[in-house]
Order: sequence, then C-alpha cells, then structure tokens
Amino acid sequence: MAAERLISPTETPEESRVNWALRPESFDEYVGQGELIERLSISVQAVAERKAAGDAIGGAHLEHLLLHGPPGLGKTTLAHVVARELGTRVHTTSGPALGKGTDLVSALTRLGPGDVLFIDEIHRLPAPVEEFIYPAMEDFRIDVCLDSGLNARTVQIKCEPFTLIGATTRAGLLSAPLRSRFGLVHHLRYYEVDDLFSIVERSAGLMGIGPADDNAVEIIAKRSRGTPRIANRLLRRVRDYAQVKANGQISALVVEDALALEGVDHLGLDELDRTYLRIIATTYKGGPVGLETVAATMNEDSGTLEDVVEPYLLQIGFLARTRRGRALTAAAADHLGIRLEIKPIVTSEASLF
Ligand SMILES: Nc1ncnc2c1ncn2[C@@H]1O[C@H](COP(=O)(O)OP(=O)(O)O)[C@@H](O)[C@H]1O
Ligand SMILES: [Mg+2]
Repeated sequence: MAAERLISPTETPEESRVNWALRPESFDEYVGQGELIERLSISVQAVAERKAAGDAIGGAHLEHLLLHGPPGLGKTTLAHVVARELGTRVHTTSGPALGKGTDLVSALTRLGPGDVLFIDEIHRLPAPVEEFIYPAMEDFRIDVCLDSGLNARTVQIKCEPFTLIGATTRAGLLSAPLRSRFGLVHHLRYYEVDDLFSIVERSAGLMGIGPADDNAVEIIAKRSRGTPRIANRLLRRVRDYAQVKANGQISALVVEDALALEGVDHLGLDELDRTYLRIIATTYKGGPVGLETVAATMNEDSGTLEDVVEPYLLQIGFLARTRRGRALTAAAADHLGIRLEIKPIVTSEASLF
C-alpha cells in the first residue's frame, strides 16, 4: 500500500528512473542541508589536498561515512555527489543484496583505490556479513575462513583503500561496533519550505514545465512534508493534471485541485496518515497505544508506519512517542476535527526516539 501512496517517501522503480534526471550532481547543485554540506565539503577538500600532496599516510581517501535520516531526503543522491566531488567511482549495493560474506568479498575486490562503496539500507546487512566488513573498514583486508574444524585456517585478502558510504533510515538498528567504525556520521533533516521551493523550481525546469507560478510552487513545497522525493512526485501529479485539465497552466488553483483529488491536505497528509491518526483518536481514545496494536488494527506493516508515517507526524507535533506507546496531541485532534479528551502527556515520558 505504501508504495502507491502519493506522499509515500519510498521510491517506486519507475520513479527511480525518472528521479535520476532530477538528481543534483555536485555540492553546489545540492539544495539545503547547509551545515552538513559544509562539513562534508571540508572533509572532501582535505582529502583532495592530501592526495595532491602525495600524503598516503594521512589518508588519500575519505573516511567511512554514515548518512541517516527519513526516506526521500537525499541520502543516495548525496552518496553519488560525494563520490563525484572526490573524483572517484561509486559501486552501489544494499544490505539485503549482500546475503553472504562472499557477496561482500566480490564487491570489495572490485574496488579501485579510493573508490566509494555505497551500501543502501545498511541496517539490513546480515550479521555474518557484518563480521567481514569490520577488518575491511579498518585495515582494508578481508579474512576468509577456509575449511572448518581442525583444518580451519584463515586467508587474508587485501582490498584497495576505499570509502564506505552507508545509508539508513534506522540508525538505531545499526550495531554499535558497525556504527563506531564510521569516521563521519551525518543526519539528514527535513527540508525547509524555502529549500523545497528551490527544488520544485529546479525540477520544473528540468522537466520542461514552463514558468511555474510562484504561488503554485509554494503550495507544492508546503505540502511535501519536508521531503524532496515527495516534492518531485507532487510536481509530476500536478503537471499531469494541468496538462489534461488546464492546458498545461500550473496556477495555485490548479495545484489545489490536483492535490485535493489525490487526497493530500494542506499539511501534506494523505489518507494513510489520517487513518492512522483517526484510529488512535477514536479506537484508542487518543492513546497511548502500542505501535503494533495500531498496525494490527489498520492491517498495515508496523515497519512501514514507523518509517513513512510517524516521522513526519512527530516532526509536526501531531504525535508523541511515550514509553507506554503513541499518543495524539491536541494539534492532531484539531486537524482531524475531532474533540479529544487529551490526557496531559508527562513530559519526562515523551521522547522523539
Ligand atoms: N538536496 C537536494 N536537492 C535537490 N533534489 C534533491 C535533494 N535531495 C534529494 N533530491 C531529490 O529527491 C529524490 C530522492 O532522493 P534520494 O537520494 O533517492 O533519497 P534517499 O536516498 O534519502 O531516500 C532524488 O531523486 C532527487 O531528485
Ligand atoms: Mg536511497
């Protein structure tokens, strides 16, 4: 279900193709995340200078980098940008694709000096593969165990110095030893409306959409839940609607109509968000209620709710996560137009994570 949501931050295969064209390629083109980009560009420049000075000991490769944050905020994009800024190649794989140790060995032995190995969804790396990755990250070697029992022996395979870039939506699921091996750990934040405005304008240009009305662009930016992937998706729906219904003219009114038709409200919430909120509000009297219980009532996967529904609701202060479960806030009840006897949330109990 989540894949079909208009405001789902998860990428569909079709989108992955289209989005490629919209991806920024350099730090300059990357909109927003200013602090993160500044810190990263310093690291990248330092590496470039050491490389130019022939300083192999100081490290002519970037330290391993972990990018975490909600889906659709530009982690994959940034991994490619970093590789490009480093002037190296990027090899892409993902946690679930590395099923066994040998998958990792073949990925690592293919790397050239200073290359980037991008592992998406690194929290889904199987535990046995993780064991292999530690010595690779630390000493650029892989210890392969041959035979077993009395004949067991370990063979060392060297690989080139490389940079591992890991991306995850769930940094909390990463084991402490794995996490501690990343020299650079950065969190991506939801984007400000201004940044999303620039992203929508830029994408409209790349998609060959004529001059878009500023008010129209702003409405799309405001309803994108701080997420560039959603901004681009809303823009495509609006473009289709405008083409069929309004001679291709994208005005504020056309955007309103197109998004109303898709069930996206003025905060960017869709039917799935509203169902989630309404179930907590009515069935569970505003909570607190456990996530698994809500998921079962909705017949939804709890992981999906945790990854794609809850982060934004937490961000806009509609939801509180307490030790006893999820609870709605007065703002959420207002938005739903429901009167709720909100039990005061004990602040010491409330936590974002
Ligand atoms: N900083 C940004 N500036 C412009 N566009 C962006 C930015 N970050 C992401 N995007 C757009 O959003 C889409 C989703 O980004 P992606 O890197 O796939 O997110 P993630 O890997 O975090 O899920 C990309 O195709 C790109 O077009
Ligand atoms: Mg990604």
